[in-house]
Amino acid sequence: MALMEWTPAYSVKVKKFDEQHKKLVEMINQLHDAMRAGQGNAMLGVVLQQLISYTATHFAEEEKMMQTHGFPGLAAHKLEHQKLVTHVLDLQKQFQAGSAMLTLTVMNFLKDWLVSHIKGVDQKYGEFLNTKGVS
Ligand code: FEO
Repeated sequence: MALMEWTPAYSVKVKKFDEQHKKLVEMINQLHDAMRAGQGNAMLGVVLQQLISYTATHFAEEEKMMQTHGFPGLAAHKLEHQKLVTHVLDLQKQFQAGSAMLTLTVMNFLKDWLVSHIKGVDQKYGEFLNTKGVS
C-alpha cells in the first residue's frame, strides 16, 4: 500500500506545481516501497538521491516563479525550503556513513513535511499567483 496519495485538497491551483507535487508524492512512495521490500542500501541510496535532486529542481522552480511575480512571502518560503534541504542532506550523509537507517519514522517525516508545506505555504503562493493570472 502506498504511503501517501495526492488529493485535490493539496492543490495549489497552479497546474505545473500540482504536477510536480504529484511526482514528489510518487517518489516518496517509491522510496517507501524500496524500504519495505528490504532493498539494499545501494538501491535506497539511489532512490533517495533521485528524490533529493527532484526536490531541488522543484524548489528552484517555485522560488523563480514567486520571484518573477513579486510574491511577498518569498524569503520565508525559501527559508522553509532551505531547512528541509539541510535536514535531508544531513540524513543522506548519515545514511551513507551507515549511522542512520531509512525507517518508517523517516518516511513519515517526509510525508508529513510535504503535506504541511503544501497546505501551509505552497497554497499561499498559489492564491497569489492566481491573482496574477498564473494557474
Ligand atoms: Fe512545493 Fe514550496 O514546495
